[in-house]
Amino acid sequence: MTTIASPAEFTIQRPQYSRTSAIRWVLSHVLRHNWIIVMVFLGALGNAALAAVVPILVGDAFNAMLLPSPDTGVLVPLALIIGGTQVLRGVLQLGRNFGAELLGQRLEAEIRDELYISLLGKSMTFHSLQPVGDTMARATNDVREINLMFNPGINLVIGSFFFLVMPILAAPRYHPALLITPLLFALAYFASLARYLKTLAPISDEVRASFGSMNTHLSESLDGVETVKGAAQEDSEVERFILNAKRVRDAFVKQGDTEARFIAFLLYGIAIAAGLTHALFLFREGLLNTGQVIAYFGLLRMLDFPTFTSSWAYTQVSMGLAGARRILELINRETDLDQNASGYSGEMKGEVEFKDVTFAYPDGSAVLENISFKVKPGQTVAVVGQTGAGKTSLVKLLNRTYDISSGQVLVDGLDVREWNLASLRSQISMIEQDIFLFSRSISDNLAFGKPGAGQDEVESAARAAQAHDFIETFENGYETVIGERGVTLSGGQRQRLALGRAFLTDPRILILDDSTSAIDSATEDKIQRAISAAARGRTTFIITHRLSQIRWADLIIVLRKGQVAAMGSHDELMRTSDAYARIFRE
Ligand code: CTP
Ligand code: MG
Repeated sequence: MTTIASPAEFTIQRPQYSRTSAIRWVLSHVLRHNWIIVMVFLGALGNAALAAVVPILVGDAFNAMLLPSPDTGVLVPLALIIGGTQVLRGVLQLGRNFGAELLGQRLEAEIRDELYISLLGKSMTFHSLQPVGDTMARATNDVREINLMFNPGINLVIGSFFFLVMPILAAPRYHPALLITPLLFALAYFASLARYLKTLAPISDEVRASFGSMNTHLSESLDGVETVKGAAQEDSEVERFILNAKRVRDAFVKQGDTEARFIAFLLYGIAIAAGLTHALFLFREGLLNTGQVIAYFGLLRMLDFPTFTSSWAYTQVSMGLAGARRILELINRETDLDQNASGYSGEMKGEVEFKDVTFAYPDGSAVLENISFKVKPGQTVAVVGQTGAGKTSLVKLLNRTYDISSGQVLVDGLDVREWNLASLRSQISMIEQDIFLFSRSISDNLAFGKPGAGQDEVESAARAAQAHDFIETFENGYETVIGERGVTLSGGQRQRLALGRAFLTDPRILILDDSTSAIDSATEDKIQRAISAAARGRTTFIITHRLSQIRWADLIIVLRKGQVAAMGSHDELMRTSDAYARIFRE
């Protein structure tokens, strides 16, 4: 029995990340990479400081030239310093960009892992309510948005922040009053930025959400493409898709519209004009010289970086946060199933008892009512009934795919909720109505519940499941890769692979949901033999319409509309239940 370390049935609180808000959550990820942050900050600071060196030195050069007897001797050293600092600046910028890129990529990978682990740990209740397409959108695009939030997003935000600060730091060296323009600009810039981000947040959420629902629709119609084509509904599906795509487009347009209204460019224009006027005024008063006016003007020009990047770097941040909110929402969505890690985890014998069990799906009315029965270890139970009677629901209560609403389900005399969930499930195998195969090799699919099983083991399981013969007919035998969802295998073949899986995991309780498969009689015979072999030595629940299988069951439960209509062995039921006897007369 292999133990799986992380996936738990309910959302695991992993202490290393704060999950109280999107910002804190992202931060708790970021803070694990201290040195990268330091690198980005130092890179950005150095870059801005060295950028400020240029106007300052150019101002000095002008002053040297404007002397009554120009001092050309200083030009060469100044030029060399400018050249040298700019080379250094390039290096620092490289460090900053590299750091930001590294951080973005690492976070993307980390967050994707965190999300994946969390998704595997969610209950079936969660998964049956959460559309796959939307989950995919979150796991791919939203995670990607977080990456882009760091590079270019926050990288430019930090970079441009220092460009905003430099004129404030450097201007007073020419005249204290020159502080006014860059300072006012910075204040106005942040004020308008705050407003801008506030308007942008819901729009970014809308962009991400509309993308998610477009993806949901796309994945559903591709998943159900056979149904779509079969019903000749391509056109209407395309129309629905176009509608969804339009919603995404509209959301993006709205975002662009908001971006365009951001007034940073206006502020920049005003700052340049006001700053220059101010400087010229001081010049006329004799408080500044020409070189200083030029240097100051050059410093003000540094504000174009924050202005230019602000229109889209912050959008990137906003989108990243919207993505983070969506991912966190998914991770945090709690389900009420408790995995009971400290519960009982001994060897199972296979006794099963239902005591007055009632069950309803979340937000639904009861689909099973007052079910009671008892099965000894090793017995075979056939569950029969019309479609929708609740057969599948009944067996899914055994391994706690769903938890019951009232009553008790006991395994070996112990309430299933008192079992350690992982232990309970590893000893119960369920072969579902629609068998899922992974796009991997046949032998990987067989060994799914027992990774590392040897080729011999896999082969003998396949033989016992009557699958060996058809597997051998494939060119690559056991290494044949199955198409997505096993489309290249027939229903009967898939069923036998699933039985093979069950042989390998050797569960104490085997559940076979076989109610809808229609199979030719030659295959039927093989499956029949495989099932009898699989049922030997373990408690087995078979949901089936096949009379031959029903007949030799130890207990037959006839369900009607969620209630037990009749129950007993074949002989008993033939005598006591008209409804049952009628099935066999037909
Ligand atoms: N149901 C539900 N939510 C689900 C699955 C089922 O509300 N996730 C409801 C169905 O609408 C149905 C009832 O539960 O009314 C019983 O469903 P099920 O146990 O799947 O019926 P089966 O007897 O297994 O039907 P079939 O023979 O068609 O498999
Ligand atoms: Mg069913």
